[in-house]
This record gives sequence, C-alpha cells and structure tokens, in this order.
Amino acid sequence: MVTLLENPLRVGLQQERTPEPLIMVIFGASGDLTKRKLVPAIYQLKRGRRLPPEITIVGVARRDWSHDYFREQMREGIEEFSDGIESEEVWKDFAEGLFYCSGNMDKPESYQKLKAFLGELDGRRGTMGNRVFYLAVSPKFFPEALRQLGAAGMLTDPMKHRLVIEKPFGKDLSSAQALNRVVQKVCKENQVYRIDHYLGKETVQNLLVFRFANAIFEPLWNRQFVDHVQITVAETVGVEDRAGYYETSGALRDMVQNHLMQLFCLTAMEPPNALDANSIRTEKVKVIEATHLADIHNLENSAIRGQYSAGWMKGEQVPGYREESGVNPNSTTPTYVAMKLVIDNWRWQGVPFYLRTGKRLPKKVSEISIQFRDVPLMIFKSAAQQTSPNVLTMRLQPNEGISLRFEAKMPGADLRTRTVDMDFSYGSSFGMATADAYNRLLLDCMLGDQTLFTRADEVEEAWRVVTPALAAWDAPSDPASVPQYEAGTWEPSEAENLINRDGRRWRRL
Ligand code: BG6
Repeated sequence: MVTLLENPLRVGLQQERTPEPLIMVIFGASGDLTKRKLVPAIYQLKRGRRLPPEITIVGVARRDWSHDYFREQMREGIEEFSDGIESEEVWKDFAEGLFYCSGNMDKPESYQKLKAFLGELDGRRGTMGNRVFYLAVSPKFFPEALRQLGAAGMLTDPMKHRLVIEKPFGKDLSSAQALNRVVQKVCKENQVYRIDHYLGKETVQNLLVFRFANAIFEPLWNRQFVDHVQITVAETVGVEDRAGYYETSGALRDMVQNHLMQLFCLTAMEPPNALDANSIRTEKVKVIEATHLADIHNLENSAIRGQYSAGWMKGEQVPGYREESGVNPNSTTPTYVAMKLVIDNWRWQGVPFYLRTGKRLPKKVSEISIQFRDVPLMIFKSAAQQTSPNVLTMRLQPNEGISLRFEAKMPGADLRTRTVDMDFSYGSSFGMATADAYNRLLLDCMLGDQTLFTRADEVEEAWRVVTPALAAWDAPSDPASVPQYEAGTWEPSEAENLINRDGRRWRRL
C-alpha cells in the first residue's frame, strides 16, 4: 500500500488545493466534446490525484442511455482520445462516480427529475450539494437551459452552484449581451465560467509569467521599442465534418473573437495588480476597450477575409471550402481572417497588432511575435548581408517555446553578420508534455478559480471589436468577392497587401 510519505506526488498534492466533493453535471453528454475532451480530462485529473474521491459526473442528454452504457461510451473516449486506461482499479473507482440521466433541455420535468437524482447522489456520494453545471450543448440551447436551471432553483447558492458555458458565447454583440442578461437573471457573475480553451494552454498562461515574472522585458514592451506585433493561429485542417456549425460561424466567430482576442489581450494588457481573477480580467477588459480596427471607415484597410480553394496538403489533393460536404457552393463564410488592430493608449499608440488565422494553411502553428524597431543607425551597413530587426517569438504550439532573434557576427576575419535565434523550448527544459487545456480549466472551475475564464464585459468587448467586420461579411455579398487562397498556401494576396502596404511582411513560418 502507498502511504502518504512514500508517494511524493501525493504529498505534494496534499499541499495543493483539491476541489471540494462535487457533482459535475454535463449537458450534452452524448456529444463529441464530452467523450473526446471533458470526461477524459476529468479522468486524467482523477488519475493524477487532483480530485477528491467523491467526485461524481452526471451526463445529461436526450437519448435513453443506461448508466452502464454511458460508462462504456466514456471509457471508449478515454481510450481513443486520451492516454487510455492505465489502471483498471482507477477506472473502476472513476466509473463508480459516472451516472446518466436522460432529459430534454426544454422540459421542466427533466430538470425536476435531475434535481431529485442529484439530491439522491449527494446522500450516496457525499457531494454535499456542490454542483458544476456544464453546458456542452449547441449554443441555441443555452438560454433555455439557463432559464430552466434557474426556474428549478438549481443555481441559487453562489457558494455551491457553478455554471460553465462553452463557446461560442453569442454570435455577435447583441446576442452576447442578451445571453449575459439571461445569465445574470439566474445567477451571479462569480458563479459563471465562460470557456475559451486557449486560456487553458500552458503556453498561453506562460505569457503572463514571461511578461510579469521577468523584469527585463517590461521596459521594452511599448511603442518606444516595438514596431508591431503579429499573432498567428494557423491550422492545416479544413472544415472537417462541422460544416453545419462552421457555415454559420466562420473564422471570425470561431477563432478571432475568442482565441485570438485572448492572445491579443494577454500580450497587450497592463501588468495586473495581483494574480487573481478580477485583477487580470480587469486589465484585459481595459485593453480591449481601447482597441479597434485600424480603419473603421474602410474595412479593407483593416480586415480581410478569405476562403480556401482546392489544393494540395501533404501530397494529397483536398477540396475547396465550397466543395466540402454540407457547405453551400456559393458560401461566403470566411475560413481565413487577417486583421489590423490598434490600441488607443499610451503604451501602444501607433503600434499595429496584426492578427491572422485560417484553415488549410501550410502548417499548424500558433505564435505571437513582437517585432522590435530597427536600430536608429546601422553602422554595419557594408558588413551586413541583410540585417533584420530583433524579434521575440512566443511559440504557443507546436514546438512550444520562446525565441529571441538578433544579429551576430559570423566567425572569420571579415565583419559579416547573420541573424540567429536564442531559444527556449518547453520540451527540453521541462522534459514533460504539456497537459490538455481542458484538464486545467475543469480543475480551475471545480476549485472556483475564474482567472482563466472570460468575464461578461470581456466577452462583449471582444464582440464589439469585430463588429464592423461581422456586419460587412454577414451582409449578402457576391461569392466572387471573397478572396480565395489555395489550400496548402498562406493567405490570399489581399491579406498580404494589408500588411505590405505598411512596409511590413507576414512572418513565413
Ligand atoms: C476551436 C475551433 O475552438 O479551436 C476549431 O472551433 C479549431 O475550429 C480549434 O480547430 C483550434 O484549437 P487548437 O487547440 O487545436 O488550436
């Protein structure tokens, strides 16, 4: 038997925070997210001894599943999408806390049945009335589910009841405001956890550590030294089997309003007063409030959309977006967005932030690069083959790490310079893989830590920033007016022009 002293991990964790016993109720239990991400993440937390033994999961969906069938499905998910079941003993213990309760999102009696079942489980499992309700359903059900949970009195206790809401939170500013009003009617903001899985990524959290645990970068982090910032989230995948969702969403809603805006905030925000949820989120909101598209009168000067056409990816021919199954052949939905944002504050006045994201690009890569100003006078002119300004790059995925690019003298009698990189890599420095974002986020919401979740005002401000582009691109337009880029190539030429006309270039990654 392992005693506390024999197991250093356990000793360590005893000193770390462990959530109170609770029931996590997952609405949308028969869906992909539950099977691929949520339950595997909770299982990994359990295996890593981050959860109390009483932890209980209740899956809710319309299908008429038994507890055992639900358990089988979840086991399949863990085996297929995560590290698998290492120990039958841990699985058995975990599975004993998995339950299923069928129900309809819009039927009050379903919530009454669920409420009674949860009460019964409290007695059996010792979960003391603590609940996390996770809405992993299609966003069209959010308002109804919230109203029903409210009406059933399941969100009344701010100390015991929490609510997790998946993205997308609204589809534009007014629907996000409306949804926030529904949320505010049924519970308090400190009960609400709006998920953006990018905030759960280690490398994204490291942005805070890099900026605010090191003294040497802060003096450079402003308009005096920074020429511009580029934020790239490039994907190689196409729309996959999500056309139904993606056609109504597109890259602006799917990636920019949430993931890229979060990366933007963490890069541009002022130092928070402390590492608590309120201090950090307040600084994030402050910087988005000061942010807008560079030219709000001429959209083409600050936001470009694009759509992938047929092309080649890793030697295989792939269809264009409009040829994908379930996509309207005349679709104008963007699969690529490039944007130029500016911030009206003292730190960043005159420093553009260029954001871009797209599907079917040549590489899966997410990074933030801070491009510093040129030296005021290049005295090595004749010696330099071609000098480049310094660039600090935070690689979020893959090959996670940070590098600083600078000029160095090449060895030899001649004075020749070359651009070199000083590199930090997570893999070699820490020798361990980074955990899935959901592990961290689920643990945090069980612990009641809202730092890595978006606050009501933050989500609304992010929508406000993208509103001019949404308004223009949602309006009916000629399909021929949507710039195309061949699958497997970088942006459309219009997006090149967006940055080239400022005398800058997109980084080639
Ligand atoms: C999701 C989007 O939020 O993020 C997907 O809906 C996208 O379209 C995914 O592929 C990207 O996440 P990651 O973690 O793979 O960069």
